[in-house]
Amino acid sequence: MLSGLLLALSVLGSFAGANARKMMTKSELHARQAEAAKRFERTPRAAPAAPKVKNITFSNPKASQFYVDGATIPEVDFDVGPSWSGLMPISGNANETRKLFFWFFPPGPEGSLDDLIFWTNGGPGCSSLEGFLQENGPFQWGVGTAKPIPNVNSWTNLSSMLWVEQPVGTGFSQGTPNIKNEDDLAAQVVGFFQQFLTVFSELKGKKLYLSGESYAGQYVPYIANFIYENPTMLDLSLQGIWIADPVLGWNVVQAEIPVVDFVHKYENVFSFNQSFMAELDAIAVKCNYAGYYQKFATYPPAGPLPLPGKSTEADRGCDVWDTVFDAALVKNPAFNIYRIFDTFPVLWDVLGFPGSFEDVQLSPLYFDRADVKAAIHAPANVDWTECSNVNVFPHGDASPPSALSVLPNVIEKSVRTVINHGLADFILIAEGTRIVIQNMTWNGLQGFQTPIANDSFIVDGVGSLGTAHTERGLTFLEVELSGHMVPQFSPLAAFQGMAFLMGFRPTP
Ligand SMILES: *[C@@H]1O[C@H](CO)[C@@H](O)[C@H](O)[C@H]1NC(C)=O
Ligand SMILES: *[C@@H]1O[C@H](CO)[C@@H](O)[C@H](O)[C@H]1NC(C)=O
Ligand SMILES: *[C@@H]1O[C@H](CO)[C@@H](O)[C@H](O)[C@H]1NC(C)=O
Ligand SMILES: *[C@@H]1O[C@H](CO)[C@@H](O)[C@H](O)[C@H]1NC(C)=O
Ligand SMILES: *[C@@H]1O[C@H](CO)[C@@H](O)[C@H](O)[C@H]1NC(C)=O
Ligand SMILES: *[C@@H]1O[C@H](CO)[C@@H](O)[C@H](O)[C@H]1NC(C)=O
Repeated sequence: MLSGLLLALSVLGSFAGANARKMMTKSELHARQAEAAKRFERTPRAAPAAPKVKNITFSNPKASQFYVDGATIPEVDFDVGPSWSGLMPISGNANETRKLFFWFFPPGPEGSLDDLIFWTNGGPGCSSLEGFLQENGPFQWGVGTAKPIPNVNSWTNLSSMLWVEQPVGTGFSQGTPNIKNEDDLAAQVVGFFQQFLTVFSELKGKKLYLSGESYAGQYVPYIANFIYENPTMLDLSLQGIWIADPVLGWNVVQAEIPVVDFVHKYENVFSFNQSFMAELDAIAVKCNYAGYYQKFATYPPAGPLPLPGKSTEADRGCDVWDTVFDAALVKNPAFNIYRIFDTFPVLWDVLGFPGSFEDVQLSPLYFDRADVKAAIHAPANVDWTECSNVNVFPHGDASPPSALSVLPNVIEKSVRTVINHGLADFILIAEGTRIVIQNMTWNGLQGFQTPIANDSFIVDGVGSLGTAHTERGLTFLEVELSGHMVPQFSPLAAFQGMAFLMGFRPTP
């Protein structure tokens, strides 16, 4: 394909004469790309005062049964260093059948020994090993790539990291799902932590940060709230939360109201025909979506924000998000709701989701391989899938959206709170998250009082990469070109926001 392109360029050159644009060689092209990539290389943080961590040791002999030799991880052709993984029960009862799978990494040479970051993916029912392998872990096997490579933006460069497959029913975790709401889920996670700290007791007293994305916009605030409201249950010092593209409010707000504005913003990406664009505009008017953001999401807001209709989902005839999704697939069968820029072909994914077309998928999935399971002390008899086939809330999640319940309390009790949103995410739309924030009251006032300035998120070495806004302990970051999984699609921006959360830098 490349040689065809070069041929075409050189043919063009020969017709266009001496002043024609110089033909670009393969090495010139690569040099330009390499130079651009260099700007996205992270400058290491100043080395912490504490001695560099070579190998953390745990005195409890039980820890050794979880030890993973970083030189023996299948397909990984470098040593990822010591780590610990396996199943941990959620209570100390001898008969406890419910166990969560975890993978713990100590900090890398740049990381702090005083902190611990907990990560969970969303779903509900999606595995945090997705985050581990494709977002913020020490090595990564990205979509469409040939093999695992070290992740220079690994969050282990910040501190110790703990990825947990939760709630029960997710990934390798054991037991029968029976939770009814987010408080039940939080109790499982805290129970897990209590057992975890009896084995890895050297981690007691560390500063704790809870992080996650998507449905973890429900999980993480509720877990944080549970910890703040039950301060004696956990021997860790919770400092704050970091959530990306989170479920925070009603579906009608985070998907329906903003979707037609979003299509207009990215008109040339969706490439819809004119008559269909006119149909979308008509639905937006009929359903009170058109102009909603401009009218109600003012800075400061004038009062509580109304629903556009009767439903918190979508009134009859007003599910325009699905209408857009169907039409997007007509134009682009590879349309990816997690990042709108993807086009044909769908890339294969070693974890099988979302790039899951039969013709591009190799099996078994990485975490479903017997050798991988053996290396990380995972149960051999579980058929691992990235997102669970069983419902982890058998009768649904009875908890109200976090922004309408616990999130204000969490922001008020935390040192910092960071909410991120990728601007190329379609499943949850950044403008909807702005509306949720403007309808939320925390630390005595409703919403942000001053407008979110354009080009205000300055990423080191890159320049502006979106917007950053902080008021009363809440920081909101929007990341240009990033899809739903911000640490995957914009790892440097995600790392910088996390470093801010932890107080390692004064501004995001
Ligand atoms: C790291 O610690 C583990 C157990 O805590 C031990 O088995 C392993 O040999 C150590 N590795 C190095 C390189 O010291
Ligand atoms: C498990 O043991 C606890 C006490 O250790 C007891 O309260 C509980 O009923 C037992 N559960 C089952 C299912 O046996
Ligand atoms: C960051 O983490 C990666 C993965 O562990 C590692 O290869 C890299 O050396 C780390 N960077 C620094 C500066 O410590
Ligand atoms: C705004 O918040 C109130 C509760 O304070 C809630 O009843 C209402 O549905 C919210 N509006 C939107 C648009 O989410
Ligand atoms: C315009 O797009 C809509 C939605 O995909 C489709 O139903 C319609 O057939 C299209 N019209 C033309 C002329 O392609
Ligand atoms: C940011 O840019 C958009 C698009 O150009 C513009 O509509 C908006 O008014 C700008 N916002 C601010 C606060 O300047």
